[in-house]
Amino acid sequence: MFPWALRHLPGPHQELFRYREAVRGFISQEISRRKLRAPEASEDFISCYLAQITKTVDDPVSTFNEENLTQVVIDLFLGGTDTTATTLRWALIYMVQHGAIQERVQQELDEVLGTAPIVCYEDRERLPFTRAVLHEAQRLSSVVAVGAVRQCVTSTRLHGYSVPKGTIILPNLASVLHDPEHWETPCQFNPSHFLDKDGNFMVNEAFLPFSAGHRMCPGDQLARMELFLMFATLLRTFRFQLPEGTPGLRLEYVFGGTLQPQPQEICAVPRLSSCSPSQPPAGK
Ligand code: HEM
Repeated sequence: MFPWALRHLPGPHQELFRYREAVRGFISQEISRRKLRAPEASEDFISCYLAQITKTVDDPVSTFNEENLTQVVIDLFLGGTDTTATTLRWALIYMVQHGAIQERVQQELDEVLGTAPIVCYEDRERLPFTRAVLHEAQRLSSVVAVGAVRQCVTSTRLHGYSVPKGTIILPNLASVLHDPEHWETPCQFNPSHFLDKDGNFMVNEAFLPFSAGHRMCPGDQLARMELFLMFATLLRTFRFQLPEGTPGLRLEYVFGGTLQPQPQEICAVPRLSSCSPSQPPAGK
């Protein structure tokens, strides 16, 4: 009710404020460094935003200013780091849990990529099983279980329900990602959810980990790219398994904003047949 009061109350949230200040300080430094550069030498987000501030300096309704720039960069960091890293952690855990699926991904990567030195995003078209496995990891882990809090700006009707202006909306994304009407085995890891009968990759309209509509995640394309490149490269290079003597995986999530896996160790064992130009896999 009184968010400003939190600033003055002692407690663990003070640590959060300290981190927030540290991040703001780091971003301010980056902004200052961009300002010292020649405009034509700059092509990144901060430089483009600074150029926009200059362009709109005489526009009284412009929202381009340094304070907003700092906040937007914070939003991109907040939205883009934990989500992607957590999804990748779940994907590796599922690979340890489902050894046969991991091997099938590695077989596909070896067969399709051969001795190619790196994985490219375009390769996903030729890697339907790998792509399906990654989508399934994203679906089942459902790391952003509830989308961002939104408010309805105008009264509307949705599926027969009236939604008055001002209503607070909390999209329950996990309910869509685990909807038994859309997924054959909603609570089990099953890459077939994204494969047709011939083994081709198949889109499913209920795959909405990035939400939907005008305010859906603006980083979805970047996230898809990062996840594919990292997952394929990791699986190509290592076999993931439990360390010897470990009782088993812990699959219950911990809530920390996103649904995170519990801290646990898994081993990344270099694959003997790992594809590199100097060390082609057997038979290639
Ligand atoms: C697996 C990765 C990711 C998932 C699952 C994810 C999911 C989401 C979801 C569900 C929302 C709320 C959308 C809504 O309210 O309708 C969101 C918002 C957002 N995401 Fe992502 N995201 C991911 C990666 C990223 C990346 C890589 C970036 C940027 C670098 C990013 C930046 C943002 C920002 C800035 C918002 C707030 C947008 C707004 O308020 O209009 N996200 N994301």
